[in-house]
Amino acid sequence: MRTRILNLLRQRSGEYLSGEEIARQLDVSRTAVWKHMQELKQEGYAIDAHSRRGYSLRQAPDLLLPAEIQAAVKTKILGRDIRYFTHIDSTNNEAKKIAAAGAAEGTIVVSESQNSGRGRLSRGWYSPEHSGIWLSVILRPAFSPQEAPKCTLLAAVAITRAIRGLCKVDCGIKWPNDILYDGKKLVGILTEMSAEMDAINHIVIGMGINVNIAQQDFPVELQDIATSLSIILGQPISRIDLLCEILLQLEELYIQAIDTGFSGILNEWRKYSITIGQTVDVIGVNRKFTGIAVDIDEDGALLVETDNGRQKVIAGDVSIRPKKTS
Ligand code: BTN
Repeated sequence: MRTRILNLLRQRSGEYLSGEEIARQLDVSRTAVWKHMQELKQEGYAIDAHSRRGYSLRQAPDLLLPAEIQAAVKTKILGRDIRYFTHIDSTNNEAKKIAAAGAAEGTIVVSESQNSGRGRLSRGWYSPEHSGIWLSVILRPAFSPQEAPKCTLLAAVAITRAIRGLCKVDCGIKWPNDILYDGKKLVGILTEMSAEMDAINHIVIGMGINVNIAQQDFPVELQDIATSLSIILGQPISRIDLLCEILLQLEELYIQAIDTGFSGILNEWRKYSITIGQTVDVIGVNRKFTGIAVDIDEDGALLVETDNGRQKVIAGDVSIRPKKTS
């Protein structure tokens, strides 16, 4: 009901709409309309209420509320069902839980903050309230479990497209899925899967995007290695607009992967890569080596040329050596 009230107010943006008119259009009592208006105000909507003229929406809160996402998003699958939290341990934990209980493909979990945000390799993810996008998307693709790691690369391309297009920030992708600007981390992606030998039950793609975090607000240990869009641009960014653009790009690439495979997506990944052509240090399971990253293969694995020949990196920690300045 509140979404429908907001839609009516948005259609008449800048004007007043009487309680009677809203009640008539939505077939509810004027008292019910009044109650919903009080709730919307409590959620942070700035609504002018005038005894004779009615209600007018002045400003929506800077929150990732389902009604705000639904009003702006242009996708068909992603975001059909939105689970919204003000606080949560981890959106990936919640997404895995509801996916196991049968949540539909395209369901998203979004939270204003996380107190146990998780990163790759058992690291944590700093997720302060109202200043980032902490988002998990549930997918149920029909392709084989071996293809799943490429969903991470797909998500990295989608987010890069969205940030470059909407914010005009020239970020790049560090293998497999970090998005960096000027050597500092802007976005992290954590993909988790539940599968049988030959079929995927579900994939959860978790995305952490540092949007409006001030430099001094990062914990000391992240000060030199993390950044945000507002630091880069010197002004805040609409989290709703960026989230909706990410969902749109993600959906477009996901449909492309299902229809025609991953090869076009891997090519786009190569275009945005900041790893290829660089000297990298690789720490994998039971091995450690240095070499030059030359390409990714058709599985999305990183190919590194070393003194002992070409190595294929499927998982592990890859760091780029800073270029020597002479
Ligand atoms: C990494 O860089 O290591 C991946 C970080 C992924 C963070 C996101 S935030 C939303 C989702 N929920 C989590 O607990 N983690 C991911």
